[in-house]
Amino acid sequence: MQRTLSIIKPDGVRRGLVGEVAGRLEKQGLNIVAMKMLHMTKKQAEGFYAVHREQPFFESLTDFMSSGPAVVMVLEADDVIARYRELMGATDCREAAEGTIRRDLATDIEKNVVHGSDSPETAAFEIAYFFNQLEIV
Ligand code: RTP
Ligand code: MG
Repeated sequence: MQRTLSIIKPDGVRRGLVGEVAGRLEKQGLNIVAMKMLHMTKKQAEGFYAVHREQPFFESLTDFMSSGPAVVMVLEADDVIARYRELMGATDCREAAEGTIRRDLATDIEKNVVHGSDSPETAAFEIAYFFNQLEIV
């Protein structure tokens, strides 16, 4: 069993897509083992995306991620990191495959509805950023 961090980003929450996204995860057998809504401060968004500090999109990304409530989840399943990233689709929704969350629901390369960890190391960091052990069932 593996775990990953999923976020329904502020655009997804604002547009009423929480149920739609959670339903897709459940249908694929990616078990939700922790879930909460929060509104990140700019500083918290900067800490979460620290690996992207040098990127030209960092300022805009952290403004967006702190622009409203998001839903953070821990998903658990075999090979969940890769399976969830496949379900999300490419970062840029115009390049995302048919049937993926981003292809079907995202509007923009930045406002792309969901986040998913990209390796076991980042998953461990990202899960611990939002959840303590008692909050994961
Ligand atoms: P994420 O981390 O959110 O799951 O997305 P990802 O791995 O597919 O993409 P990543 O390269 O890690 O980028 C993180 C987020 O930054 C925004 N972004 N904007 N304007 C741009 O060129 C650009 N590139 C990336 C997106 O919100 C992306 O998900
Ligand atoms: Mg990423």
